[in-house]
Amino acid sequence: MTNYDIKDKSLAEGGRRRIQWAEREMPVLRSIYERFEKERPFEGIRMSACLHVTTETANLAKTLQAGGADLVLVASNPLSTQDDVAASLVMHNEIPVHAIKGEDNVTYYKHIKAAIDHKPHITMDDGADLVSTLHKDYSDLLPNVIGGTEETTTGVIRLKAMAADGALKFPVVAVNDAMTKHFFDNRYGTGQSTIDGIIRATNILLAGKNFVVGGYGWCARGLAMRARGMGANVIVTEVDPLKALEAVMDGFRVMPMMEAAPLADIFCTLTGDINVIDQHHMEVMKDGAIIANSGHFNVEINIPALEEMAVSQHQARPFVKQYEMEDGRVLNLLGDGRLINLAAAEGHPASVMDMSFANQSLSAEYMVKHAEELENIVYGVPEAIDAEIARLKLEAMGVQIDKLTEEQLTYLNSWQSGT
Ligand code: ADE
Repeated sequence: MTNYDIKDKSLAEGGRRRIQWAEREMPVLRSIYERFEKERPFEGIRMSACLHVTTETANLAKTLQAGGADLVLVASNPLSTQDDVAASLVMHNEIPVHAIKGEDNVTYYKHIKAAIDHKPHITMDDGADLVSTLHKDYSDLLPNVIGGTEETTTGVIRLKAMAADGALKFPVVAVNDAMTKHFFDNRYGTGQSTIDGIIRATNILLAGKNFVVGGYGWCARGLAMRARGMGANVIVTEVDPLKALEAVMDGFRVMPMMEAAPLADIFCTLTGDINVIDQHHMEVMKDGAIIANSGHFNVEINIPALEEMAVSQHQARPFVKQYEMEDGRVLNLLGDGRLINLAAAEGHPASVMDMSFANQSLSAEYMVKHAEELENIVYGVPEAIDAEIARLKLEAMGVQIDKLTEEQLTYLNSWQSGT
């Protein structure tokens, strides 16, 4: 196999050991692997996956391959690739991977092009860069595509915008919208891995620090909860009154970013929107403030403005760029404003990715089986898949639950009895 682009083949053995380590925490995906090996639902299917290349994704890739998929895997972010994992997939599993940690934008899109050159029947995206590039620049290949799946909130928002414009030319399943995905991956996964990324990058003590969480969606809730657990004084900023109200009643201080800006030691955005931390916020931040992002794209912090404001900049530590302002203050930007949990740490732990990637595998299978019936819109994950993944995960964790009695079932289905 020659069609791949990775950093260093010699890293493969270490990658294999780490992939096996993650696999132990992914029992639901493992059970799907075993069924796929027998049933081969993807026989004859070309699949292009644009995902963070991590140990967890490697286990997904092996599962799809076991199901018969002819798979190409490319990076969904320039900083999230684990080079040893990429090497192992190429060397041990013959999966063509195009992903190098730290790749520049040109290489990033060269890798997306490799996914497109594979002429996929099924796309698997995290952030919708593959689907969007395919639609914008390679529309002649669209008729080959049966459908796609999308992993993340940001990607689902983009795809829904495409569908609303009538621009989406094949059906997509929004894996993110499954309850067994966003309740766990977005909340507990992002909560823990973002703290992990900030700590690995800075080694800072969180106890007693003022910590601003930008947003209060599922990911931000997880981060706010875990930052509080580490002893930080958490401030939440929001634009949505309902989410803001929820943050207030969860016990957080809520205020506009402009009010929070001079108070905080650490900022982390998780909104999916642009310039959540803007020039006027950075102008009033404290000396030494740490600024990070854990949303999908590196647009949440106005980095061009920060570059403009700075009189000098240098790399203080790996993943920490220090900008010196004219008034002598320094501001610290983590991981170039890219998702800090994947840039400086290893992303979400395998135990939550187990459910996310079980959803990916089963949604891809659903897409292949139901291609004829589906329209060119964004679908949720079928409820039966969601419920089955929850059941399998509980079973794997050794947790038993009660069953409704006949009497309870009858009661729930009746309306006659009240007080
Ligand atoms: N997104 C967040 N964490 C991840 C992980 N560990 N693997 C793949 N995608 C992720």
